[in-house]
Amino acid sequence: MSTDEEYRYFATVMARGSSPLYERLALAVAGDEEMLAMLDGLPPAKRQPNLLFAAARHVGGTPADYAQLRDTVFGRREEVVATMLARRTQTNEPGRCAALYPVLASLPQPVALLEVGASAGLCLLAERYGYEYRGDDETVRGGATDSALLLRCRVDGPVPAVSPGAVRVAWRAGIDLNPLDVRDEDDVRWLRTLVWPEQTDRLARLDAALELARRDPPRVVAGDLNERLEDLAAQAPPDATLVVMHTAVLDYLPGPGRAEFVERVGRLPGHWLSQEAAAVFPHIAARLREPEPRTAAYVLALDGRPLAYTAMHGGWQRPLAG
Ligand SMILES: C[S@@+](CC[C@H](N)C(=O)[O-])C[C@H]1O[C@@H](n2cnc3c(N)ncnc32)[C@H](O)[C@@H]1O
Repeated sequence: MSTDEEYRYFATVMARGSSPLYERLALAVAGDEEMLAMLDGLPPAKRQPNLLFAAARHVGGTPADYAQLRDTVFGRREEVVATMLARRTQTNEPGRCAALYPVLASLPQPVALLEVGASAGLCLLAERYGYEYRGDDETVRGGATDSALLLRCRVDGPVPAVSPGAVRVAWRAGIDLNPLDVRDEDDVRWLRTLVWPEQTDRLARLDAALELARRDPPRVVAGDLNERLEDLAAQAPPDATLVVMHTAVLDYLPGPGRAEFVERVGRLPGHWLSQEAAAVFPHIAARLREPEPRTAAYVLALDGRPLAYTAMHGGWQRPLAG
């Protein structure tokens, strides 16, 4: 995909309906030759809309319109580019745990959670959040009933069978190329800037999860997920069910790196819980019997078996039959 196509796709598929400002900015970037030339001068992985917009906001605050974005990008170009080169899109979205929690609850307890691409590790704290699953006729609650963070999830289909305290975590650890520290001010500011401008509910969720995490931060080791997987898995207690999990991560790896990961995780005991875009794992996508929803969604899968389509930032899921 060329850079202008990437920005147009981001505007019309990802941002539309979620962030009117990002939709407008991305469409304007797609038609701005000077901005596209600046982006094309960066390494391919650094041209993403999320990275450009977050870096510009980190440097100059949230722009009201495209003219202001341009002023920041070209007026403070060195700072913006330095931020884009130094930082990554490491959005840590605890809302994604609403999809993970019922699957974790269905496994033999206790579980040992190993998250690859964990960012600050907020999804490693799944059992510390409260959950509410709302179907057409039924609402169920799970997780920690006294948690400061309640994650609400609409279910288009049968609501999952969960109960409070259903998930017991014996051990947890994460891997990330660049672990973010929930106690570091600049890391927290970056995490907050990665939340799209109008999404105040997501920001409140992030702040609540960060507050919880700061009391007892999850351990996230630095390194590549393929290089660190086995040695970290070997540290999990053998009497707990090992769950290797990830959300919105494998997309960042080229095809051979994804295939290597699938092979590595297949050799480990326990389970593999993935929540990624359908295109990331063609062998899982090939098992999908229902068309993808109109809005961008992830596929939640256990050991390669698709279980549900899920909202990219949590809040909605559609269980799949079979
Ligand atoms: C979009 S964030 C998602 C974070 C978290 N999983 C969530 O859903 O909230 C993707 C994370 O994957 C990490 N990552 C990307 N490639 C990686 C690799 N090869 N090894 C380890 N971490 C990686 C990035 O640094 C980033 O923190």
